[in-house]
Amino acid sequence: MRCDLTPAWKNLQLHAQGFAGFDLRAAFAADAARASSLSQAAPHVFADLSKNHVDAATEALLQELARQTGLAAHRDAMFRGEHINHTEDRAVMHWLLRQPEGTLGGSLAEPLALVHGTLKPMLAYAERVRADAQITDVVNIGIGGSDLGPQMAVLAMQDRVIPGKRFHFVSNVDGHELAALLRGLKAENTLFLIASKTFTTIETMTNARSALGWFKAQGGTDVAHHFAALTTNVGAAAAFGITTTFGFWDWVGGRYSLWSAIGLPVAMAIGAQGFQDLLAGAHAMDQHFQNAPLKANLPVRLGLLDVWYRNFLGYTSRSIAPYHSALRRVPAYLQQLEMESNGKRVDRNGHALPYGTSPVLWGEPGTNGQHAYFQMLHQGTDTVPLEFIAVKKPTHQLKDHHELLLANAIAQAQALMLGQSDAGGHKHFTGNRPSTFLLLEELTPASLGALIALQEHRVFVSGSVWGLNSFDQWGVELGKVLAKDIHARMLSGDVAGLDASTGALLQRLRD
Ligand code: F6P
Repeated sequence: MRCDLTPAWKNLQLHAQGFAGFDLRAAFAADAARASSLSQAAPHVFADLSKNHVDAATEALLQELARQTGLAAHRDAMFRGEHINHTEDRAVMHWLLRQPEGTLGGSLAEPLALVHGTLKPMLAYAERVRADAQITDVVNIGIGGSDLGPQMAVLAMQDRVIPGKRFHFVSNVDGHELAALLRGLKAENTLFLIASKTFTTIETMTNARSALGWFKAQGGTDVAHHFAALTTNVGAAAAFGITTTFGFWDWVGGRYSLWSAIGLPVAMAIGAQGFQDLLAGAHAMDQHFQNAPLKANLPVRLGLLDVWYRNFLGYTSRSIAPYHSALRRVPAYLQQLEMESNGKRVDRNGHALPYGTSPVLWGEPGTNGQHAYFQMLHQGTDTVPLEFIAVKKPTHQLKDHHELLLANAIAQAQALMLGQSDAGGHKHFTGNRPSTFLLLEELTPASLGALIALQEHRVFVSGSVWGLNSFDQWGVELGKVLAKDIHARMLSGDVAGLDASTGALLQRLRD
């Protein structure tokens, strides 16, 4: 049943009315067990949810909403390999990429065997490249899910990256990016990974063609040694002239593809075992999502909290603050994950929805954000739930830095909640501003895998309650089509039939 037509939705609306005067400080004072009852341990991730605008009744009602909208059945359909991405008639099985070998039967046995049949040669190739001293620079050319995941993960694992190799990520069709990088490279020392699920994305194909042209112009001949393709479209890669190819399948969405051949730069950076550990951490979270009861299921609790904030309390964005500089691309990664998955205005039947869906996601690492936009979080007119991501143990010896970093994270969460009274003047902080605190013991491949899988599943949960297909992305198509037309007009100068603004801008750029 559509979420807003369920009895639980009505009850949540009533509950939200009574919630107008909710105050975090009062909630903690009234309930000594609040911190523990609103905390949740999950594989590799501990979450303190207690500084959120929820109470036990809210959570119970949200779980009822999950039941009445069939969340568990939808989740189980995904894990059975049903074609829940119905607009593209595809299964949604990124989770299968981290499923241990030989552990599933029935119709999933064959795709699981394919997964491991591809993973093994991919990891063997990663190890060969790691051992190849001639290759000092690995350049990943891809965009969206074929860029953000591996880029985010290689950066997150920066302390484990194999010495003697540099990893670069080129995504934008803006030639400044590729040109600046190529200036510092030598063809004989460079390996290009052309990462594209479809192998048709214009930005990636343009960058790949230019990289190949540069390689040949530098005297490079051994394309098989210096180019590899990561794609579901093996035929297109071969037609492009690349013979070293690692494939994956249409049931892996681009923004969910880190675990597939798209993860090859990560495997090269941290080694086959590291990549296996990343998969294992994600798998542990898959199991938690599948098996933990709704009330003790972290992705479920987070996803339902997202629905509560978006639809009942009217909070339209969520800010992400990783208090770890190696996690600095996590906000960008989560932006695609959430907003490309749930930024939809129609339900699974294509009917317009009367309620809000994806929040706006944004953020920067702490403590940097504190000296930039946190002003607005503390004293602005909008309530923006903030999600902290902190790591207990550092990998460096600068103990005092890490203590300061973590102290700042906790202090910010505290300041947002407590506020400060100054008779309503400039120094007045209202407090009662919500935050979630995610804590990893250490930043390892396994904990990173778990953290990312947690985020994937929480997006599944809110998308499922909202009745969306979280796995297509038709909203990116129109711009692609129009860009082709405008590009042709840019060359020809034909502005006939264009609106006055578009025509004038085109003319101005041509003059
Ligand atoms: O344009 C959006 C999108 O299709 C994303 O969903 C995807 O991650 C990205 O482009 C890149 O696509 P591909 O891997 O096919 O090049």
